[in-house]
Amino acid sequence: MTMAIRGRLQLTLALLKPDVSQVPHVLQAIHNRIIQEDFLVVRHKKIWLSEKETQKFYEEHKEKFFYNRLVTFMASGPISALILAHEDAINRWRSVMGPTKVYKTKYEAPDTIRGMYGLTDTRNSTHGSDGEETAAREMSFFFPEFSRKEWYEVEEEKFRKGQIQLDKASFVHRLL
Ligand code: CDP
Ligand code: MG
Repeated sequence: MTMAIRGRLQLTLALLKPDVSQVPHVLQAIHNRIIQEDFLVVRHKKIWLSEKETQKFYEEHKEKFFYNRLVTFMASGPISALILAHEDAINRWRSVMGPTKVYKTKYEAPDTIRGMYGLTDTRNSTHGSDGEETAAREMSFFFPEFSRKEWYEVEEEKFRKGQIQLDKASFVHRLL
């Protein structure tokens, strides 16, 4: 397969929330979409957060009316955490996810992930970092052992040049 020529890769954190991570055919469809949209999967793990950890992750929203239901939902089952790479990965992943509010998104952006699989404004399938700083913080929240600095030094160029292959069993791209 020929790979498109890429510019410098950006990293973002994606979550597949409990509403989708427990439905195997939906999870598979989202994995397929991630590949189809040309994202490279740098890290991937399944994790079940406690309510405390979830509160910490969503601390920025603690004054919002939806905070409690968000925390309860996100701690209700396992989620998948992924570090995705692409040029402009942060904005690209957010546009593949679609807008936050599912009822509206189903009409206005039906072929986004939230448009296709979202259930409610809370159970909206996926999360994506909203900026560089957030992405850095969120990646280290889920992958404290991951060093971005080292990844850029050692692996970014190889990923960019396509010297990788998808390990289907773990759904991670590995260096050739
Ligand atoms: O996830 P995104 O960045 O698109 O939206 P957010 O405004 O940062 O909100 C974080 C999460 O809170 C959303 O993804 C929803 O799961 C939840 N939420 C909600 O339950 N009700 C709302 N009215 C808005 C957000
Ligand atoms: Mg957000």
